[in-house]
Amino acid sequence: MTLLELEQAKELNSVEYRNRGGVNTLRSLADFVSDLGFSSEEELRDYFKQTRVLDAGSGYNGLAMALCLGGVDAQVLSINPTFDDPKYEIRQRDLISDRFKKSGFFQGRCFKDIEQARVLANQNTFVASALNLPFESDYFDRVIDNFAVTTYFIERFSFSYRKSLEELIRVTKPEGKIRISPKTVFEDDWKMEVLELIGLPMEEHPNGIELTK
Ligand SMILES: C[S@@+](CC[C@H](N)C(=O)[O-])C[C@H]1O[C@@H](n2cnc3c(N)ncnc32)[C@H](O)[C@@H]1O
Repeated sequence: MTLLELEQAKELNSVEYRNRGGVNTLRSLADFVSDLGFSSEEELRDYFKQTRVLDAGSGYNGLAMALCLGGVDAQVLSINPTFDDPKYEIRQRDLISDRFKKSGFFQGRCFKDIEQARVLANQNTFVASALNLPFESDYFDRVIDNFAVTTYFIERFSFSYRKSLEELIRVTKPEGKIRISPKTVFEDDWKMEVLELIGLPMEEHPNGIELTK
């Protein structure tokens, strides 16, 4: 990751923290249904059931927490280039208590369950960028890039964008899926062109694209 890319990733985390609106990475399972382009919670549950998942660019680990609290039997590993930021955990806890106060947000779970889900998610989080993933090849059944890796590349970094996609593909098992959202990412023609050059089977879902290795 170049210094400029690292700065971009840091800025993303702090902007998200300041705004708390838009994409707040702590969301309910129902929110992830639409964000990841599923038609129902049942479909999302089936998709992740008994899988090993990489959340590539995990923010405050909302996906890992939502799946855990939703009782989905999946092993979620996350990467976030700024997970080692000294303020990360304080901000994450702060966002959780803010969300906890909004009744029903965490599906009626008690604070102890939420804290357990948070600790587990963080234990399975690695400081890494998608350019250089600390995992062996053919390791994940599902790779999720939601509002993260592909979203934030600008055309000047198209080489790193391609290398990052290749890394996400490398760590995916044969027949595994790489699900990218939101669909607005692909309003940038150059991003779609790079994907097409990579040449994996590609399907649209309601909020983006899915590649099959
Ligand atoms: C808006 S948050 C989205 C978080 C999460 N995917 C979600 O759905 O809530 C963007 C995250 O992507 C991370 N990110 C951005 N570029 C990345 C890259 N090239 N490799 C890994 N993570 C990246 C940022 O550090 C941040 O944690």
